[in-house]
Amino acid sequence: MVRDEEGNLRYVVLDDTALGTFADRTLIDPRRSVILPDGIDPVRIAAAMNPAMSSWIALRRRVDFHAGQRVLVLGATGNAGRMAVQIAKLFGAAHVIAAGRDTTRLKALAALGADETITFDQIGRAADVDVVIDYLWGDPAAGALIPMLTLRADRTAPLAWIQIGSIAGQTAPIPSAALRSARVQIVGSGIGSVPARDILAELPELASAVAAGSIDVRARAVPLAEVARAWTAETDDRIVFVP
Ligand SMILES: NC(=O)c1ccc[n+]([C@@H]2O[C@H](COP(=O)([O-])OP(=O)(O)OC[C@H]3O[C@@H](n4cnc5c(N)ncnc54)[C@H](OP(=O)(O)O)[C@@H]3O)[C@@H](O)[C@H]2O)c1
Repeated sequence: MVRDEEGNLRYVVLDDTALGTFADRTLIDPRRSVILPDGIDPVRIAAAMNPAMSSWIALRRRVDFHAGQRVLVLGATGNAGRMAVQIAKLFGAAHVIAAGRDTTRLKALAALGADETITFDQIGRAADVDVVIDYLWGDPAAGALIPMLTLRADRTAPLAWIQIGSIAGQTAPIPSAALRSARVQIVGSGIGSVPARDILAELPELASAVAAGSIDVRARAVPLAEVARAWTAETDDRIVFVP
């Protein structure tokens, strides 16, 4: 985020670059930014936009998602995953299944709208979803594919698997039989797979949803002077460094 010379707060989408915006002065391409509404809390926005954008853009721009569909969030206990649960509900998902490995964190997702919470050994219960939002990849994704696809009530019903994060492994050993056993499409979502103009077009509405409190954000402002201590702190909060 930057404050421009007219005093507007702008959220900026940077292309792949080593340059960030955490500086007293910086240079941005205004065409790759959106002006945020007056009075918006920059700490909440900084904490929420990247993790929230991952599922918002994926559902809006990478697949043909519509209200009434069923969604599985793989890796639902992380920051992006818990927002994906909420965003899927916000977009009208009829049933959202949150999958993860930490049962305490999973339980808390019911209050955020998860209709069902499951651990990976129960993945077959998600066989009939229409969309998977996958933050994990690696073994959890590879292990989920065969049971999910073969247990589908209608294997010809489309399943859109959106690959977003790879925190459990950069590669996943996917059996070729999985790809033939049901009507599954695996697509990725992130900067590069969606044009910058499409991402920018979604940001004002997302920022408004964050500002309105429609998405629960665990934001904590920490002065930059405390960066060394905060960097290694164990916390589920999204830490936002402030000058
Ligand atoms: N493409 C995009 O636009 C985009 C945007 C934002 C984030 N991402 C990516 O999405 C991923 C998640 O981001 P985040 O912000 O949610 O991270 P996070 O808050 O650190 O959460 C990590 C999540 O992954 C789970 N996890 C970690 N290692 C695992 C393993 N070996 N097996 C199973 N589960 C594992 C954690 O489970 P526990 O709760 O059990 O620890 C937690 O649910 C990251 O890879 C990130 O880079 C992509």
